[in-house]
Amino acid sequence: MTQVLELDPERPQQEAIQLAAAVIRNGGLVAFPTETVYGLGADAMNEDAVRKIFEAKGRPADNPCIVHVDSRDMLDRVARGVPAKAGLLIQKFWPGPLTLVLDRRPDIAPSVSAGLSTVAVRMPGSRIALELIGAARTPIAAPSANASGRPSPTTAEHVLEDLGGRIDLILDGGATNIGIESTVLDVTTDPPMILRPGWITQEMLSEAIGPIERAASDEELRRSPGTRHRHYSPRARLILIEHGSAEFLERVCRQHLKTASVGFAGHSDVEIDDPRFYAIRLGSSAKDYANSIYATLRRLDARRPDVIIVEGISEAGEGAAVMDRLRRAASEVFGRG
Ligand code: TXA
Ligand code: MG
Repeated sequence: MTQVLELDPERPQQEAIQLAAAVIRNGGLVAFPTETVYGLGADAMNEDAVRKIFEAKGRPADNPCIVHVDSRDMLDRVARGVPAKAGLLIQKFWPGPLTLVLDRRPDIAPSVSAGLSTVAVRMPGSRIALELIGAARTPIAAPSANASGRPSPTTAEHVLEDLGGRIDLILDGGATNIGIESTVLDVTTDPPMILRPGWITQEMLSEAIGPIERAASDEELRRSPGTRHRHYSPRARLILIEHGSAEFLERVCRQHLKTASVGFAGHSDVEIDDPRFYAIRLGSSAKDYANSIYATLRRLDARRPDVIIVEGISEAGEGAAVMDRLRRAASEVFGRG
């Protein structure tokens, strides 16, 4: 049985936090909201507990987890040394959606790092997450709280849908603010390298510490094992149209409707009067897409279409992170520039 406790994200109820902290200390699994997506947490110093994360999610053992901390002191318990540039980024962006890859300390659970000599760490920006870590008095390893390969969860309902019955507790703090995962930055190299784009953009990072590299896909595969696996995907075949006019999008939808049922998500107005067609209209900004894209993919999928067609957005700023996730989720991509 999975227990669900609702709590106020601004002033989390202490009984719920204490109960969740006890589950973590006893080696159990707790899903909790961060500012990005819901995480599935376990005590990062307890190997048996961390293994349960992989089991519950069906996560490949070679995909390491992010460790969540609530202070610099706690960071020093998991990472061996913090380079000067990383220190600047911590001052500027923590708590927040920036994960730093650092050299690991030997006493964290081996599965957290999946055999690498590094550990990915961040200080999350939600009160529930910070208070949970504080009450548990231990760093919390937490990947996104979805079944492996599925869209990341932005509500407690999404977590229940994927992991109900397989985890001990869900802290329900409502929908998350940002909606896509943190930026992952490797600071063990100079210049540092973005392994996964996110809400903190390359421009924001360069402004703080100078040149930043963006991993080319081969490099990324080698250094961030998680990016190799199929990700963020609905059950239906997802077709991404990176850009195209409303007329073009409508033509593609009609073409597929000849042989299939079609779900569509985009910022263009595509209306087709066909019972096998269903559309969700999104705002056109990166923020609109980030906020709603995973929930939208789940909603479309629930109607069991054969094909989901998604319209892309501009790559500028935070758009890069949104487009990264859509490309990984897609079976086919059209209009790569
Ligand atoms: O916003 C987020 O980052 C959310 C919330 C829950 O904090 N977490 C999240 O975790 O997205 P997950 O497991 O879904 O993605 C972690 C990413 C993967 O791409 C993984 O390969 C990479 O971080 N990663 C973890 N440890 C790493 C390491 N030591 N070196 C390189 N990449 C690492
Ligand atoms: Mg994930």
